[in-house]
Amino acid sequence: MPKKAKLIDGKKTAAAVKEEIKVEVAAMIDSDIDAPHLAAVIIGEDPASQTYVASKEKAAYHIGMTSSVYRLPDNTSEEKLLKTIDFLNKDPEVDGFIVQLPLPDHIDVDKVIDSIDPAKDVDGFHPVNVGKMALGQPGYLSATPAGIMELFKRYRIDTVGKHCVILGRSNIVGSPMSILMSKKTSPGNATVTVCHSRTRDIEKYTRDADILICAIGQPQFVKAEMVKEGAIVIDVGIHRIPADNEKGYRLVGDVDFDAVVKKVKYITPVPGGVGPMTIAMLLKNTLSAAKKEFYK
Ligand code: GUN
Repeated sequence: MPKKAKLIDGKKTAAAVKEEIKVEVAAMIDSDIDAPHLAAVIIGEDPASQTYVASKEKAAYHIGMTSSVYRLPDNTSEEKLLKTIDFLNKDPEVDGFIVQLPLPDHIDVDKVIDSIDPAKDVDGFHPVNVGKMALGQPGYLSATPAGIMELFKRYRIDTVGKHCVILGRSNIVGSPMSILMSKKTSPGNATVTVCHSRTRDIEKYTRDADILICAIGQPQFVKAEMVKEGAIVIDVGIHRIPADNEKGYRLVGDVDFDAVVKKVKYITPVPGGVGPMTIAMLLKNTLSAAKKEFYK
């Protein structure tokens, strides 16, 4: 039986990362350099996307950055969106920007991401930045994988030679995590297995995982019997499930937290785990953009 599981506190860690950025932003302002400027484009009224963008805006403001939001209606044409992106690519006042996903079905997401200037792609979604990440070259690392790697670093979690099982193969989380964890880096140097909707007997893999990264998009999918004693569990999911409280819902992850926490060494809670780190790392990328760290 492992000792009591330790929570990986994403909220506290994100606060520390943001504080470090805030100090750098204040120094820039003191030296008469413009504060980093993060812009966001959001299409439609999807409540989750609205919440994410509002959180990013608020976090940028709190650390002294400039933020702006371009709100476009649901029926915005692809052409109009591409024009907005072209404007932001050329706007010297904007250091970095994101286009909030998902986009409406009539818009080709690949075309949109391809049209973002890689030097301003603080989401790290452009093929140039994904390629740099895969090759281990400096560039924008997308915020959720960057946040998970930062948690491993700050909690001094040893990943070398460990079996890291990743549930999910999305471009945003599963796929980049599989690349990062297998690289000859620290954190990294793990042996990686990627499980997805076509994986047979998924429990065979999850039960063998020293590190289990859950980004499968299904509420409370990972049950206690699927997890090895003493494992490290990273929960990327965030879902609303009905609850008997004022709001009528509560937030849960991809992991059945209350049961799994009893077996593991470390676990990220939902909320307060990976989510806050995603925002902190987006701001870190925006600071890098303002400092022209990766692109001149
Ligand atoms: N939708 C869900 N997560 C993200 C993210 O990290 N960036 C963007 N642009 N959209 C998202």
